[in-house]
Amino acid sequence: MDVLARADQLSWYHAIELAPGRVTDGMFDLRPYVARYGLPERMDGMRALDVGTFDGFWAFEMERRGAREVVALDLEHEPELDWPPRRRGEADTCAARGDGFRVAHEALGSSVRRVEGNIYEADPGELGTFDLVFCGSVLIHLRDQLLALERIADLCQGRFICAEAYDPLIELLPVPVTRYRADRPKSVVFWEPSARTWRRMLWTAGFDDVEQRARLKLRSRRGFSVRHVVLHARHGTPPAAA
Ligand SMILES: C[S@@+](CC[C@H](N)C(=O)[O-])C[C@H]1O[C@@H](n2cnc3c(N)ncnc32)[C@H](O)[C@@H]1O
Repeated sequence: MDVLARADQLSWYHAIELAPGRVTDGMFDLRPYVARYGLPERMDGMRALDVGTFDGFWAFEMERRGAREVVALDLEHEPELDWPPRRRGEADTCAARGDGFRVAHEALGSSVRRVEGNIYEADPGELGTFDLVFCGSVLIHLRDQLLALERIADLCQGRFICAEAYDPLIELLPVPVTRYRADRPKSVVFWEPSARTWRRMLWTAGFDDVEQRARLKLRSRRGFSVRHVVLHARHGTPPAAA
């Protein structure tokens, strides 16, 4: 079966243009928001990592900008995600996380390398280090956000772009706080920090020059929206080279 016909049979997280006029029916169409994230216009010569790539939207975007090498890290099966104990049975044991990525990869003729693995165990000894690490909407789903940030810092020798949901209510408090969310019946979120708290967490994990680049309200194609803060930070290189 032709690759576009196979794409039509999948359920997509990302809207990705696989061929002129053929866009996947993803839950999130990030294309109108891309400019707000502050990726370098050109990434020639850079080694880039997309953490929690899902269908690969950001990995393919970095490749499109000329990155020399892009690695896309993700788990392969839903049960491997962090689940609160009472909700573990809800994981879909059939669908493979990487199916959409593989079809998009083929349709786009991409050279992005998908690596199956958990960010908690990501090791620069295996993956190398990266000039730019992108991580979007992943930490919000993790039980141990700081451990993941530490691992990302180990992998990052340059710029880190972090885009995560924040809680606008606790944002009103003048101190860094996070909201406990794992007792809700629906989405899998353990802790929802304020934007201020995300900034302090990046610093705690070892990043320098942590700055807010944008706040945006991402509208899903399913009718809900998520407030995101985009942070840029630096790790392991002097300011002039980051
Ligand atoms: C909500 S999606 C975000 C997709 C994409 N990064 C974006 O910004 O649109 C979260 C992704 O993170 C992945 N993920 C969750 N926990 C992970 C972990 N511990 N290690 C690696 N990937 C993880 C999920 O499998 C999923 O693909």
